[in-house]
Amino acid sequence: MRVAEPTAQSVAEAARLLRDGQLVAFPTETVYGLGGDATNDRAVAAIFEAKGRPQFNPLISHVLDATEAQKFVCWTPTAEKLAARFWPGPLTLVLPRSPGSPISLLATAGLDTVAIRAPSHPVAQALIRAAGRPIAAPSANRSGAVSPTRAEHVAESLGERVPLILDGGPCLVGVESTVLDLTGTTPTLLRPGGATREAIEAVVGPIAVSDALPSGDSARKSPGQLESHYAPARPVRLGAISVGADEGLLAFGPTVPQGAMLTYNLSPSGDLGEAAANLFAMMRTLDRPGIGRIAVMPIPETGLGLAINDRLRRAAADDGSRRGR
Ligand code: TXA
Ligand code: MG
Repeated sequence: MRVAEPTAQSVAEAARLLRDGQLVAFPTETVYGLGGDATNDRAVAAIFEAKGRPQFNPLISHVLDATEAQKFVCWTPTAEKLAARFWPGPLTLVLPRSPGSPISLLATAGLDTVAIRAPSHPVAQALIRAAGRPIAAPSANRSGAVSPTRAEHVAESLGERVPLILDGGPCLVGVESTVLDLTGTTPTLLRPGGATREAIEAVVGPIAVSDALPSGDSARKSPGQLESHYAPARPVRLGAISVGADEGLLAFGPTVPQGAMLTYNLSPSGDLGEAAANLFAMMRTLDRPGIGRIAVMPIPETGLGLAINDRLRRAAADDGSRRGR
């Protein structure tokens, strides 16, 4: 495994690896992605293998822009409006696969839909352009673990499973893209992320929210079913307004309870954008020997708070998979 500064040369080398069916980790504005040629079944299979994904979750295909997206999916007026406002950027659109779409069926887990987005990070764009094909990329971490927002997180998590990591510095958004399903009559939020619900609704009007989200009805009725994800090795306690001496505290805002073993503040000024950018890196830093549990202060459920709270609820869900990790 090699970590390289993004230069014309290293990007060209990364593109060669991709065209050759190999994997490359690269920065996006949200999190680092583990990229493979989205049109190559074997490259996509290698992504699942490197991540240790238990089942074939569908992957997002990354493209340069809306014109390119239309080669792979059936475009709609709503997609056009959203792409005009949010692309390039942290919004993923789920649309019907176009007839003859070359996207690997494995990348879409056999679904007749494709999740597609145009990232705004210049290194991601340079790589897509140089590879000359769509890049399938989940977050560049082992399945279930905390998403990587720095090149060193990728190296720690995937190590020799990836031959080349392009180091683009810390990710500015820090949480994954918003996933919006456009295949029904009303756009449906499948995953809150870097594009806020409020900003999306300003473009397309009221949207629906998937019941499967941890804040949704069906998830509330059966909290035990909640998939543990984004999970540190230590247990996570949410809504903390006081803190124990064996706890590491993930704080938010200017008023912080005292007495934790270690405290990191997502945003002392209470800025949700800053908090999102810091979330995964601070969760990793608190996930260390000597800390019994990670306590997290309440985060407002507005704007980027939706995505932050979604990730925190999944981090706190204990489905037993934490044992032994
Ligand atoms: O910000 C991001 O989206 C990052 C960067 C690398 O672009 N990628 C990412 O990928 O988070 P991943 O694989 O960790 O998450 C993809 C999400 C999953 O929730 C998956 O279920 C959903 O997108 N998804 C993918 N294809 C889908 C489809 N055809 N229909 C519905 N959901 C889909
Ligand atoms: Mg992920």
